[in-house]
Amino acid sequence: MTPDVEFKNVSKVFGSHTAVDNISFTVPAGSFFSLLGPSGCGKSTTLRMTSGFEFPDRGEIFISSENMAGVAPYRRPTNMVFQRWALFPHMTVFDNVAFGLTVDRLPRAAIRTRVGQALELVGLSPFADRKPRQLSGGQMQRVALARALVKRPKVLLLDEPLGALDLKLRMQMQLELKRIQREVGTTFIYVTHDQGEALTMSDQIAVMNNGRIDQLASPQEIYDHPATRFVANFIGNANLLPVEVESAAADAATGLATVSMGGLAFPTSVAQKPADRRGWIAIRYERIRLGEAARAMPIQMQGRIRDAIFAGSTVHYLMILEPSGIEITVEAGHDGISRPLPQGSLVDVGWEPGVTRLFGDV
Ligand SMILES: Nc1ncnc2c1ncn2[C@@H]1O[C@H](COP(=O)(O)OP(=O)(O)O)[C@@H](O)[C@H]1O
Ligand SMILES: [Mg+2]
Repeated sequence: MTPDVEFKNVSKVFGSHTAVDNISFTVPAGSFFSLLGPSGCGKSTTLRMTSGFEFPDRGEIFISSENMAGVAPYRRPTNMVFQRWALFPHMTVFDNVAFGLTVDRLPRAAIRTRVGQALELVGLSPFADRKPRQLSGGQMQRVALARALVKRPKVLLLDEPLGALDLKLRMQMQLELKRIQREVGTTFIYVTHDQGEALTMSDQIAVMNNGRIDQLASPQEIYDHPATRFVANFIGNANLLPVEVESAAADAATGLATVSMGGLAFPTSVAQKPADRRGWIAIRYERIRLGEAARAMPIQMQGRIRDAIFAGSTVHYLMILEPSGIEITVEAGHDGISRPLPQGSLVDVGWEPGVTRLFGDV
């Protein structure tokens, strides 16, 4: 696929703080690309350098193969949607969306057609004559989106645009945004600290950690095969368990390494080869099986239930593994009929070798 946006060894320093630390990535044209990471990791700075509101100290940024060095924001084929929508309160929805085209002095008929299409796209055609204060939060966000898309940017930049909406609306807008992106085929670069949001919408996710990209891959790849301990921890719920490394070299036939916990050896998939015998495995809460299901698993041990936390569709068990004495959390489905396993009981615990990831000590 043709790259729409390309970062080559880009760094940005504020005072003594390196906000973006030598990152390189490519965003394929027409894709939904997310920058995901905790607050302060450099997401907005990366987006602002793409739009031209911020300039890199090192490295180069290309949009459609054109070097953006020294290119002003308004000359770039990008447009930005913010969390704070900044709609003009005295203007109608139609005029808010038309604003950019009016400034560009497009003929009236062309403006009408394009605004009409944009409002249709975001499902706001019946609201064209309303003022922003007559709209809900979700509707205002749609106006902001229409206003950005009506200019037909090659690349739409979105900085936590759903942050101000409540959870239900946010989930609804996630699906809407994905639909709209598919329909217009515009390249979206989406900034969020919300992993659920990134997993739901993205073709590709770049997980940022302290100014760097720890992993760039599809949502499923990032969830199933986290490349670093940070990614394993940040996305989904994972246990991080200390292990002894018996054999770090992946077995030629199975691709698995061998580790042990409390003297019990078992195979694991490898994310990073540990430098010495100390390592960590990450295993997601919901990948651990209990009771009868555990007895069908290639890796088996036992664990004592210390606590059960009811969460509606699932139950979280805090358990102590035997013989290692290591504490884990297990997320088991709740069927609405059976009672949670009683506190203090000893149950079988098991998992598939491929679901754990081995990491080094740092
Ligand atoms: N204009 C600025 N001046 C000084 N420091 C900044 C500026 N913009 C961002 N930073 C710092 O750079 C780091 C990354 O910021 P930002 O890109 O906004 O992170 P994110 O969007 O991931 O929360 C933070 O530590 C932030 O305080
Ligand atoms: Mg930010």
